[in-house]
Amino acid sequence: MERFVDLIQDKKNGKELSDETIREMIASFTKGEIPDYQMSAMLMAICFTGLNDRELTTMTLAMRDSGKVNDLSAIRGIKVDKHSTGGVGDKTTLIIGPIAASCGIPIAKMSGRGLGFTGGTIDKLESIPGFHTDLSTADFYDAVKEIGICVNGQTEDLAPADKKIYALRDATATVESIPLIASSVMSKKLASGSDCIVLDVTTGNGAFMKDYDQALALAKKMVTIGHHAGKKTIAILTSMEEPLGYAIGNNLEVKEAIQALHGQGPEDLMTVCYTLAAHMISLGKDISFEEAKAEAMESVRSGKAFETFTAMVQKQGGDVSYILHPESFPVSPIQADITASRSGYVAHIDTEGVGIAAGILGAGRSKKEDDIDPCAGIILHKKLGQYVQQGESLATLYTSKETLLSPGIHHLERCFEISETPSKIPALIGDCITI
Ligand code: URA
Repeated sequence: MERFVDLIQDKKNGKELSDETIREMIASFTKGEIPDYQMSAMLMAICFTGLNDRELTTMTLAMRDSGKVNDLSAIRGIKVDKHSTGGVGDKTTLIIGPIAASCGIPIAKMSGRGLGFTGGTIDKLESIPGFHTDLSTADFYDAVKEIGICVNGQTEDLAPADKKIYALRDATATVESIPLIASSVMSKKLASGSDCIVLDVTTGNGAFMKDYDQALALAKKMVTIGHHAGKKTIAILTSMEEPLGYAIGNNLEVKEAIQALHGQGPEDLMTVCYTLAAHMISLGKDISFEEAKAEAMESVRSGKAFETFTAMVQKQGGDVSYILHPESFPVSPIQADITASRSGYVAHIDTEGVGIAAGILGAGRSKKEDDIDPCAGIILHKKLGQYVQQGESLATLYTSKETLLSPGIHHLERCFEISETPSKIPALIGDCITI
């Protein structure tokens, strides 16, 4: 490889990097042969000058190959993975995984923990007493073969280049770069080994990508990478202008997911879940979206999706009695409501703020090492466009620590705007990107 400083200079000047250079850069950085300060400068240059589709695909594949790539060939059928770019109250994996699996789509899902204002699927599942997300690879594959679905934690050897690069990005203000986000997400998806990928690209004030056009650009880049990597990939834009459903916080969200699997979830959550599940089933079975959606809805109506979720919980060591009797989940001892200061329509919800408030109450972590409180969080009582009387409850806060309650209330109170006239509610489902 040329001197790395010259490559930084090239990228800074907007030149293309060769495939060989990119592969060497990722391999050398993963091995610790490129110092952090030089890699940080390269990432900053990429932030400013971008990567073309060839460079982006090569970088993503090199990041995928920096660790172990799952070989799911021993599991029969077309495996479909799903990824969300994150949001508040986003419990879709808990619902659409079992729906798709009960329709015959094998789901071998590796998920992450939450950090910052969005919760992680692994934390949500671990709020079910006994649930394990650290299965060995052999047990993970066996669970998918037997039940049709397993949701396991991301292993250390899954795209380690991404882990190292992400740590630098976090410390050098280079997280918000479309090619860097696209390569980060897709390197992990490709290493997870499924045949098809459905991407839920969230947008709005509670999403990573606040701006719709930026989210669309990210969706297009990720679909392009998937296509070049030989995977059928589809991205759907969904709104995060308010939390998804009413529950935010780990076991609160599991309870709402159980309601949804019984067909009784909040309307917005059911709509997003049926849309995403239908795309997964459509890709996996090569049938139309409408046929796939009908199958998804029937799996919920017949109870098959709920049975699959229950079987998954049992297989992963969880205590199924909580799934059958969700009222037995532990409930936070300390609760309080925030109420409307005036009558009117809910005109705006600071969704990220709601996520941060739930984190303050103990539902999230600000550092990787932090513990989370499985019962902490927020149940909303009003969502966008709904009418509220002065003094009526907007939301209930749950926490196990008295000291966290006032800061949580203080933060959440500022998240709601109430107006005299109803405002326009943004569309929940946006563009669908395929190649
Ligand atoms: N999620 C990821 O996995 N990577 C990013 O860069 C941003 C969000």
